[in-house]
Amino acid sequence: MSQQESFAFAAKSAGGRKVKAARKSAKASAGAGKKAVRHASTGARKKTTRQGPAAARAARKKPASRHKAAPRSRATAKEMARKQRDISISEFFAKNRHLLGFDNPSKALLTTVKEGVDNSLDACEEAGIVPDIRIEIHQHGETRFRVALEDNGPGIVRAEVPKIFGRLLYGSKFHRLRQSRGQQGIGISAAGMYGLLTTGRPVVITTRTGPKKDAHHFELKIDTRSNEPKVKKSEVVAWDKDHGTRVEIELEGGYRGGQHSVDAYIRQISLANPHAQIEFLPPNAEKNGDAIVYPRVSEELPPETAEIKPHPYGVELGVLMQMFRDTRSRNLRGCLQGDFARVSGRIADEICKRARVKNTRRPGEVSRDEAERLHKAIQATKIMAPPTDCIAPIGEELIERALRAEVEAEFYASVTRKPAVYRGNPFLIEVGLAYGGNLPGDAPVVAFRFANRVPLQYQQGACTITKAITATDWKSYQLQQPRGAMPVGPLLIMVHIASVWVPFTSESKEAIAHYPEIIKEIRLSLQECGRRVATHIRKRKREADEEKKRAYIVQYIPQVAVGLQEILGLSDKARAQVVSNLTDVLERSRRM
Ligand SMILES: Nc1ncnc2c1ncn2[C@@H]1O[C@H](COP(=O)(O)OP(=O)(O)OP(=O)(O)O)[C@@H](O)[C@H]1O
Ligand SMILES: [Mg+2]
Repeated sequence: MSQQESFAFAAKSAGGRKVKAARKSAKASAGAGKKAVRHASTGARKKTTRQGPAAARAARKKPASRHKAAPRSRATAKEMARKQRDISISEFFAKNRHLLGFDNPSKALLTTVKEGVDNSLDACEEAGIVPDIRIEIHQHGETRFRVALEDNGPGIVRAEVPKIFGRLLYGSKFHRLRQSRGQQGIGISAAGMYGLLTTGRPVVITTRTGPKKDAHHFELKIDTRSNEPKVKKSEVVAWDKDHGTRVEIELEGGYRGGQHSVDAYIRQISLANPHAQIEFLPPNAEKNGDAIVYPRVSEELPPETAEIKPHPYGVELGVLMQMFRDTRSRNLRGCLQGDFARVSGRIADEICKRARVKNTRRPGEVSRDEAERLHKAIQATKIMAPPTDCIAPIGEELIERALRAEVEAEFYASVTRKPAVYRGNPFLIEVGLAYGGNLPGDAPVVAFRFANRVPLQYQQGACTITKAITATDWKSYQLQQPRGAMPVGPLLIMVHIASVWVPFTSESKEAIAHYPEIIKEIRLSLQECGRRVATHIRKRKREADEEKKRAYIVQYIPQVAVGLQEILGLSDKARAQVVSNLTDVLERSRRM
């Protein structure tokens, strides 16, 4: 920071009272020379020049500048007021596309595939359909791709299509508390907007809601100024699918291998969704039409999850006030009982009594003070924890089966914890470990992170899952671990968080926020799996030691027999018997 900047910062952060002191310290540190001082109240900058004799001589020698700097024009509040205008959400995210995961071409391609697959899996599960998903990536130029995502889901009704794909912040999942992959109402429309910005091509959608219904074909663009869809084409078409949706987006992208690749994503998504069949047509397979098929490991859909109401403990004062304004209930008792989880009539009365507000009061008329008292009363009242049947884990058995299908290891372990609660939201942690076999023994362990069955491939360092892994003491589980880092060894760790609301650190849904309750649950499940791995490693070490000892003794049994033959004068037959007896004793002691 320059002196000017540091002074301006000091003045700004210290506020009016401390400005004098800040100015004094800036003067002292600047010594002779030029300084700029920002006036605390007006913000005008006053330049002062104090030169020593040497500096003055040097300045005299310098030729005078012919071009005088034009005086900077200062904006007035009125002029600034004229520049104020609304910012549409699409404009905002078009400028800040990195917030949505479109910061570079290869990530943009991955995000597009991911958003489409998330939606397809969500729609199939909600409609009770075992998902069949096809992902196609066609390469049209070095950095130009056309992504097609097709599902056998319930389809989308015609009137909804333009808003879903041509408007940001439009969706069916934001206003509810239910476990699903999507939650924000941004995903697929943002992918379409990125495609439009980089190639000028519209999003193409084909959808059908049933065999007796027409299939509709749309081409549409998003108007970023107004965040509204512009329909370019809408027609009825023939489609060989009974129901489902196909979305095609053309975009500037990059198809790369490695940890962040589309291929890695598909492998991981099939790992966490063993009930889904995924067909993938990569760009290089296009000519011979070979699609890679990831078959389903289970025919059963995950258990159906229920939508829940917010738990009163997790509701902040502002939200509480908004809920009072929005409710359909006529009185406070009805509102508390009807709009929140785990609040009975008795509990509602107790809250009102504690807050000294009548339970017959109209919720819309509750004042700020009353709302604050009610908020405090809620925290002071004993209310049951939220229901937890709203969460569907993958399950220990399926995690293990999926891991076996993914990696060839010598030992597998998995743990599904009981649901817990953060900020009033139920969540659940599952961990799967694979140890040994083909996994590299001298590299940091590989960690697969999942949130509501979606792999998280970026921002590993910012994620609470990584924090919990590195905070676990893996040395006590027979693995090496540099201080504060990932353990080293032939291990693959899979961590899944399932929740009605996953606390992502940003809109791109790449990392989980650091809630202490979540970290604790991950640590406990890692420890449980770690203990099992350690038992296995110890057993294997013991066996290896015994084998070594045995091999050593076996080597000397014939010599021992010869020695005995010489000392005791045994026949050759008796010597052979000694060899057989000693070998037998060794075998039996090993079995014991
Ligand atoms: N393939 C599909 N089949 C059926 N409905 C779909 C499909 N794709 C999207 N939708 C509907 O469109 C809505 C908007 O999708 P979008 O991806 O923009 O947001 P979201 O999935 O709700 O949240 P997120 O931004 O977290 O992805 C979804 O909520 C869903 O109701
Ligand atoms: Mg989505």
